[in-house]
Amino acid sequence: MAVQRTLSIIKPDAVAKNVIGDIIRRFEENGLSVIAARMTHLTAEQAGRFYAVHRERPFYRDLCAYMSSGPILALVLEGKNAVALNRQLMGATNPAEAEPGTIRADHADSIEANAVHGSDSEENAATEIAFFFGDLDIHARA
Ligand code: CMP
Repeated sequence: MAVQRTLSIIKPDAVAKNVIGDIIRRFEENGLSVIAARMTHLTAEQAGRFYAVHRERPFYRDLCAYMSSGPILALVLEGKNAVALNRQLMGATNPAEAEPGTIRADHADSIEANAVHGSDSEENAATEIAFFFGDLDIHARA
């Protein structure tokens, strides 16, 4: 299995619940390392750029409003098979469908306020990482 990097976002609902530490613990205990971290509060315009691939979806406006409603923590995670492993730890997008013991099953309130975001491919991970971080912000450990 190749070492990969992926972008994780701890979303406004999870930051507000003060469960940043619990979420990062799950990453670390499952073989992922945090190699960059940045807390920020996106504007709706910035959230719209990040989620541009969803711009035609009916939930796009609400998603941008929600993602700009409070601070988030953007992380770069590194580890073997990091893209798929992160998605496994997150659970399904809709927390009602998330496997027990996943981050979304334990912390998400709704399909919108669903605690975390994770890149869905290595290619998208590279784009999403570059949205938040420059090369000098990233500290490889593998
Ligand atoms: P995320 O993994 O961050 O990617 C896009 C987000 O859109 C998704 O998580 C959800 O929080 C949000 N979203 C809101 N409504 C829907 C929906 N009906 N289907 C998929 N994603 C949705």
